[in-house]
Amino acid sequence: MFHLVPRRRLKLRVLLAIYLLVPVTSQDVLESQDSVIDYAPNTNVQCPDLSTTSLIRVFTPQNQTLHPEETEYVSKRASDVLPDAWRDWLGVSTAEHGYNLSAFQGNFPRVGMAIPGGGMRAALYAAGCLSGLDARNDSAKAAGTGGLLQVVSYMSGLSGGSWITGSLFFNNWPTINEMVLGNDKDMEGWLLELSLATPDGINLFSDKNQAFFGSVLWSVMAKANKGVDTSITDPWSRMISYHFLNQTNRKNFFTNDTAHGAGQLWSDIPLIPAYQQHKTPFPIIVADSRPVGSNLTTSLSLDPVVYEITPLEFASYDPNLSAAMNLTYAGTHLSNGKPENGSACVTRFDQAGFIMGTSASLFNQLFDFARNSISAFSSDDGDGLLYVLKRQLREVRTRADDVANWPSPFNGLKNTTFEDSDKNWLELIDGASNHENIPYAPLFVRARGMDVIVTIEGSADESNNWPNGSSLVFTNQRQSTLLRSSHQQFPPIPQTPEAFIEAGVNARPTFFGCDPKQDPPEFPLVIYLPNAPPLNGDDPVTNTGTFKLSYTRKHQSLFLSQVHRNTISGFTPNANTPDPNFGTCLQCAAIDRARLKVSPPIPRSALCDQCFQQYCYDPRNPPSKLALPGRKQVFVDPDPAGFSKLGNFFSKNKFALIGGLAGLVALLGAMIGGLLLWKRRKTKQQTYKRVNTLHEDDAPWQRYLDHPRGESYELPNHRGSLAH
Ligand SMILES: *[C@@H]1O[C@H](CO)[C@@H](O)[C@H](O)[C@H]1NC(C)=O
Ligand SMILES: *[C@@H]1O[C@H](CO)[C@@H](O)[C@H](O)[C@H]1NC(C)=O
Ligand SMILES: *[C@@H]1O[C@H](CO)[C@@H](O)[C@H](O)[C@H]1NC(C)=O
Ligand SMILES: *[C@@H]1O[C@H](CO)[C@@H](O)[C@H](O)[C@H]1NC(C)=O
Ligand SMILES: *[C@@H]1O[C@H](CO)[C@@H](O)[C@H](O)[C@H]1NC(C)=O
Ligand SMILES: *[C@@H]1O[C@H](CO)[C@@H](O)[C@H](O)[C@H]1NC(C)=O
Ligand SMILES: *[C@@H]1O[C@H](CO)[C@@H](O)[C@H](O)[C@H]1NC(C)=O
Ligand SMILES: *[C@@H]1O[C@H](CO)[C@@H](O)[C@H](O)[C@H]1NC(C)=O
Ligand SMILES: *[C@@H]1O[C@H](CO)[C@@H](O)[C@H](O)[C@H]1NC(C)=O
Ligand SMILES: *[C@@H]1O[C@H](CO)[C@@H](O)[C@H](O)[C@H]1NC(C)=O
Ligand SMILES: *[C@@H]1O[C@H](CO)[C@@H](O)[C@H](O)[C@H]1NC(C)=O
Repeated sequence: MFHLVPRRRLKLRVLLAIYLLVPVTSQDVLESQDSVIDYAPNTNVQCPDLSTTSLIRVFTPQNQTLHPEETEYVSKRASDVLPDAWRDWLGVSTAEHGYNLSAFQGNFPRVGMAIPGGGMRAALYAAGCLSGLDARNDSAKAAGTGGLLQVVSYMSGLSGGSWITGSLFFNNWPTINEMVLGNDKDMEGWLLELSLATPDGINLFSDKNQAFFGSVLWSVMAKANKGVDTSITDPWSRMISYHFLNQTNRKNFFTNDTAHGAGQLWSDIPLIPAYQQHKTPFPIIVADSRPVGSNLTTSLSLDPVVYEITPLEFASYDPNLSAAMNLTYAGTHLSNGKPENGSACVTRFDQAGFIMGTSASLFNQLFDFARNSISAFSSDDGDGLLYVLKRQLREVRTRADDVANWPSPFNGLKNTTFEDSDKNWLELIDGASNHENIPYAPLFVRARGMDVIVTIEGSADESNNWPNGSSLVFTNQRQSTLLRSSHQQFPPIPQTPEAFIEAGVNARPTFFGCDPKQDPPEFPLVIYLPNAPPLNGDDPVTNTGTFKLSYTRKHQSLFLSQVHRNTISGFTPNANTPDPNFGTCLQCAAIDRARLKVSPPIPRSALCDQCFQQYCYDPRNPPSKLALPGRKQVFVDPDPAGFSKLGNFFSKNKFALIGGLAGLVALLGAMIGGLLLWKRRKTKQQTYKRVNTLHEDDAPWQRYLDHPRGESYELPNHRGSLAH
């Protein structure tokens, strides 16, 4: 049981009361309770004394540093928690892997874990995979795979992968099953059977859906009323919070009885008990940026700045920026590191839901997704949908309502290389917008010194929604060109998705970079655990589309167990049976770099050698997908009648197939309409001068009203980023 900063909440109440010019009575204080309007940031906060402290850190790739508290967290975990975790996992004496751990003289590899995007599928895939790597799970422990999760120092999440990351932290690092499916006590799980955008079913005008929309908009308005620009990312963030943060259950879902995660801050993660005990890795969320003024509605090139958000900082280690902002004060405009008004700082902008929503803010590219999906429908349905989409998205197309709006703390910095240096706002978007669906960037930052990177690969790339390595190919390209000075290099991989598929390395666990040539190694070892067809030839239930926004209970639990089983099983070449040595092989991969940390280096053990021959990718002698026979590729719905209980709209109507999407689209329309109306009123009552004076456009909706319609509209030719 933990409560996030009741004291601060109380302060917020008092501030709010002052703000509203309502007398603060002791009753107000006593009855102060969580509310969805806790989503509002605090504005006009006294800034810290900048003569003694700074809100930003500025560095270069050459003198790159981490925040001292990050370094302290990671090293404290390394000294106090990880040695036992390694011993618990690998065993103290010469076990099957053939190493005597004491020979490593206390040197253990530093392990990071990357969780990519892909909506609910990516979150569920990561959940199943983590349960197979968790020492707390009996069958994972028995297989020898359970324990890897316990030795991880960093966890990075992107889009759907940020949702499970956030969920793990804001539920105090629970076991996977209770987090996703609930327990009999205090947790009800992710409630994925309630669709994200239309939790009461497709009828937008049902009382419950209307109440839900009302609550969501109430949060967003509370933020907007502070004069902080909102966008479609804000209602999106609130919806995500209902499922992945921990204040929502079936009973209170359609009420205002709790804050539904509003007021929980990313910068409060250090107060969470599991974090305080150093039981968790250090979490980092990734988001991309759309160059301000570009108005891009397509995916990005590899150039624009990639950002990261830790519990301490909002930062970028890209050479062109190399700067970090104190997360507590994110939301404050800074110019050359200074607020224009020392009494007008912003706090509580870093709402946990908003961080997860920012990382998954793909709205500037939703067109792309629509085109891809629509091709699957009959032309009637397709036309109808496209019409709705066009109408909704035309309204957001030319303005910053389709991105996550972050007041820029980096104005004036690095003005020869940082392209948004002269901008007051940053336009953050889905972390996969540049095709890098796996949040590798933070884990390759040189100063973090990662030895091993575990990839929980739930991307949907090829036609059956399995990964095809595309994300690694793009990351390899970005790192070997733009990030040479700031990041480690990527280990050798197949050069194209086609080669990935041919080699079969996208369809079974693979280790990349097993044999570095340099000392210290020129790249980390990448353990790649892709979402793949069940190795025993069962029908797959885990290769669902990114925009599947609800899962029946039955599907959720089958999904988890299918992924769990694959995760603990490895593969046996030319067969459909588990590899009894896989647990050991995974241990071999995780510990391998420790051999090189002692002098003279310890030779690889015989069994590990054998493991590496099976699981390592050797570019000179690539494996073949032919070694993976009898896998079924095509998704089979395990619970086809599952949603029929929700009413005949679902069961009888052809909309059954598109429920989630149509609902989302219609809802976005409603939300955007609401925001626009609100903004119209807003210009008349500017309450928060500091932010408002920095608006780049006081009446942004006018742009879209003035914008010529119809003719200029065209579908971009890329897939939506979350569709990976
Ligand atoms: C949030 O999670 C923590 C840790 O599991 C728990 O103690 C707390 O009661 C939860 N809060 C709510 C409102 O469920
Ligand atoms: C890094 O170097 C730059 C320029 O050489 C300097 O301005 C900056 O203060 C240095 N930062 C750190 C953290 O040492
Ligand atoms: C492992 O090494 C330590 C220290 O060198 C030694 O005391 C111990 O007996 C070894 N254990 C085994 C099982 O060989
Ligand atoms: C281990 O994970 C599997 C698959 O998610 C689950 O069915 C089982 O209940 C878990 N066991 C424990 C002890 O959590
Ligand atoms: C919550 O309160 C807001 C604002 O009063 C209202 O619009 C909304 O319908 C309420 N939601 C529920 C679930 O009662
Ligand atoms: C982006 O939109 C703004 C506002 O409509 C416009 O001023 C600007 O020229 C546009 N930029 C580009 C590159 O089209
Ligand atoms: C942010 O700034 C406040 C005020 O100076 C300070 O107390 C806090 O430690 C800072 N946080 C980080 C992560 O630097
Ligand atoms: C600074 O901000 C405070 C709080 O909003 C405001 O009262 C004050 O007038 C501002 N000062 C200036 C110089 O704008
Ligand atoms: C860029 O920054 C430098 C040093 O901070 C400053 O002297 C220069 O005028 C700036 N250039 C522009 C175009 O703002
Ligand atoms: C990064 O900086 C370099 C100059 O050092 C510049 O050529 C490049 O265009 C910049 N990239 C972006 C995306 O601004
Ligand atoms: C691989 O995935 C990418 C990105 O998802 C996709 O664009 C491409 O068509 C896929 N290629 C193959 C061969 O599957």
